[in-house]
Amino acid sequence: MTYKNIIKNKNIILGVTGSIAAYKSIFLASLLVKEGANVQVIMSQSSKEFVGESSFSGMTHNSVITGYYGEKTNLNIDHIELAKKADIIVIAPATANTIAKLALGISDSPIIGSVLATSAPILIAPAMDGEMYKSKQVTENITKLLDDKTFFTGPAKGRLASGINEKGRMSEPEEILDKIKYIFSKKNDYKNVKSIVTAGGTREAIDPVRFITNKSSGKMGIAIAEALRDRGSNVTMIHSNLYKNHKIEGIDYVKIQTAEEMKTEIFNKIEDSDLIIMAAAVADFRVKTINRNKLKKDQITNLYLEKNPDILKSINKSNIVKVGFAAESENLLENAKEKFISKNCNIMVGNDITEENSGFGSDQNKAIIIEKNNVEKLPLMEKTTLAHIILDKAKNYLS
Ligand code: CTP
Repeated sequence: MTYKNIIKNKNIILGVTGSIAAYKSIFLASLLVKEGANVQVIMSQSSKEFVGESSFSGMTHNSVITGYYGEKTNLNIDHIELAKKADIIVIAPATANTIAKLALGISDSPIIGSVLATSAPILIAPAMDGEMYKSKQVTENITKLLDDKTFFTGPAKGRLASGINEKGRMSEPEEILDKIKYIFSKKNDYKNVKSIVTAGGTREAIDPVRFITNKSSGKMGIAIAEALRDRGSNVTMIHSNLYKNHKIEGIDYVKIQTAEEMKTEIFNKIEDSDLIIMAAAVADFRVKTINRNKLKKDQITNLYLEKNPDILKSINKSNIVKVGFAAESENLLENAKEKFISKNCNIMVGNDITEENSGFGSDQNKAIIIEKNNVEKLPLMEKTTLAHIILDKAKNYLS
């Protein structure tokens, strides 16, 4: 059975309170709906000064609760009924006032009322002025609220409504979505599995300015690391430059540049790991002598290259599951099968880089999955979906 997206069909209450950051929560609602969640928005009275109810109802296809006496559910006690059904309550943005009321349990709005009436986890995304955030009162309230069921995300440092550059900005919607997934990820089939994922194209320097690399964006590796995290694995991602810098909660990142550095970091971890998925595009060659100073173009007539180690091939620990990738432009099946054998992998994922909308830099991939007694040809799909299919198969080799 293919693992479903962790957000799909979850009942999420999104509490929106009165901050200028409320506009970002419309985008958050959209992200959650796109991932298949059932989103119920509760707005505080003051949030309506910043955003309109209909933006949220339009986005979520659910009517918005704005007070205690709306009578939208059969029970006519909306917040209680919803709180019981909720898988998580997210308060974004959460003002200093809301945080204070949460800390004291002052349930003068359905947002606080639903928090008090639920057994689901709570995620709070504060948004306020930097000095307010640093104040003794807010600090004490946050400390009081933190427990194994109550989580915070942000605030981030950035330009605030007041014009100053301070810590008080609400986390970006993608980061909040990621934290929600992290909260849901605690219990799954990769729990107790320690995994290494590699991602991105390594860089081999020519001089301080120039380097040799390849077209890898790191998207496949990121999708796999995130899927592993969602399924409860303890994940280390060893990566070069990636297409995005935003770090995913619950993943340890180790940044490297060269193939040699990647190999060193992998071997530092490998003894303690159960699974390695090599999605990185490791540069096969490096420049023999790296110039300390920037070379003038007329000085470069030839580049002398030497071979980098084949990292995947050199991993021969007995109790580790090895998954490799083969990016090919011709004879996909034959070449990927050859790599499956020569690199002694449990699984080799092959893809044809000449396929339209697939492979390097794309969000999608059309892959074949090679195992000892099986070859499966998959249709074009999102890399995030492919990541879960790979994990469904890799799981069978874990002891
Ligand atoms: N790989 C590796 N070390 C290298 C080169 C590749 O560990 N020096 C890994 C990649 O991360 C990938 C798999 O081996 O999981 C296949 O990589 P690929 O670049 O497709 O194959 P190569 O072995 O480099 O062969 P070629 O470039 O000749 O196709």
